[in-house]
Amino acid sequence: MAESAAKTTRTHRALAGALSIADLRLLARRRLPRAVFDFIDGGAGDEVTLRDNEAAFRDWVLLPRVAVDVSRRSMQTTIAGNRSELPLMLAPTGLAGFFWPSGEMAAASAAAAAGIPFCLSTNSVASIEAVAKAVPDGERWFQLYFLKDRDWMHALVKRAKDSGYRVLCITVDLAVQGRRERDVRNAFTMPLRPRAATILDLARRPRWLAGVLSSPPGLGNFETPDRRHFTSVAQHVASLFDPSVTWDDVARLRELWPGPVVIKGVLHPDDARKAVEIGAQVIMLSNHGGRQLDHVPAPISALPGVVAAVGGRAEVILDGGVRRGTDILMALALGASACSIGRPFLWGLAAAGQEGVTRAITILRDELDNAMTLLGTAQIGDVTATHVQARRAGPAWA
Ligand SMILES: Cc1cc2nc3c(=O)[nH]c(=O)nc-3n(C[C@H](O)[C@H](O)[C@H](O)COP(=O)(O)O)c2cc1C
Repeated sequence: MAESAAKTTRTHRALAGALSIADLRLLARRRLPRAVFDFIDGGAGDEVTLRDNEAAFRDWVLLPRVAVDVSRRSMQTTIAGNRSELPLMLAPTGLAGFFWPSGEMAAASAAAAAGIPFCLSTNSVASIEAVAKAVPDGERWFQLYFLKDRDWMHALVKRAKDSGYRVLCITVDLAVQGRRERDVRNAFTMPLRPRAATILDLARRPRWLAGVLSSPPGLGNFETPDRRHFTSVAQHVASLFDPSVTWDDVARLRELWPGPVVIKGVLHPDDARKAVEIGAQVIMLSNHGGRQLDHVPAPISALPGVVAAVGGRAEVILDGGVRRGTDILMALALGASACSIGRPFLWGLAAAGQEGVTRAITILRDELDNAMTLLGTAQIGDVTATHVQARRAGPAWA
């Protein structure tokens, strides 16, 4: 008892000392086995896009305005038509319950408390119904992958609808899984199969191991007898996901959902136009966090083209590489309506469960508040294209 209280205090202290998202990443690295940390952290191929997603924010600079009354500020906005306390949401991420016991509930609770949307992945450990029951009041979205088994897929849509998820987020950039070499090298499977190389590592991560052993995770939305024995994520994707999907299929699926629909995984302006044509309310501009095709543009680089193509007919959420409040500000100035984060909240989750996710949201909220104030923008709607320019261009006022 005394030992667990001491550990809790240590976790509190470590969290309080985490000043940035980068600090949370280091805490997650300490708690997770290497293979699990790498599954979150890694990307496809040479991880060029993974690095670019963060680095490409440096291609832009913010242009502050001074002598503006910024004494009364608000970061409130709307996302997919509903009020959100921040221009920020938690992106869908598979296996969250593998990083922390009941990880999906922890993340959904933190998002609900912060007043921002949480999107549950098809590949969640907790089921659609379990998350809805545990977090009935938050703004919940459900992310859907196209499954070969259309009956099963339609059943998932119905389950999400019946469980009160308001928004359907259709991910279209995973015809097959990207080649993630870290996962192949680490022989990452779920459940983790201990090998000689990983046993020592697992032994050094007793808290993570105890959590997993107390409730061995499966895939909550696939639990039928023939779907239990899932090994690597790539195998799971190859056996169940449908690579033959076209825009006609997406349009048909859109018809099944009564509420707002989000198309996630768009990078090309022509695809953004297609998504608008089939009636998407939101385009999630995303390269899946650099986990799918390597050498594609960072979302922030693709943003101006996609915003121009959409022409105000849908909201554009920038997804990928957001690590600072200033990143969110740049995305808003370039025309995004909000941003979503994957790894930043997963690092918080892996470090300290719900409190860690809250810490990740709080860090970004405080950074955004500080940056908005110093930019001379008191409200989200005050942030415009005049507040940003390409780094290499001359000063806007010259
Ligand atoms: C561990 C992990 C699992 C993910 N699982 C899913 C998923 O199930 N469905 C999905 O649409 N995107 C998934 N993504 C991608 C995220 O939704 C998001 O696009 C990406 O994490 C954004 O980049 P960021 O991590 O730099 O914020 C996953 C990302 C990570 C890191």
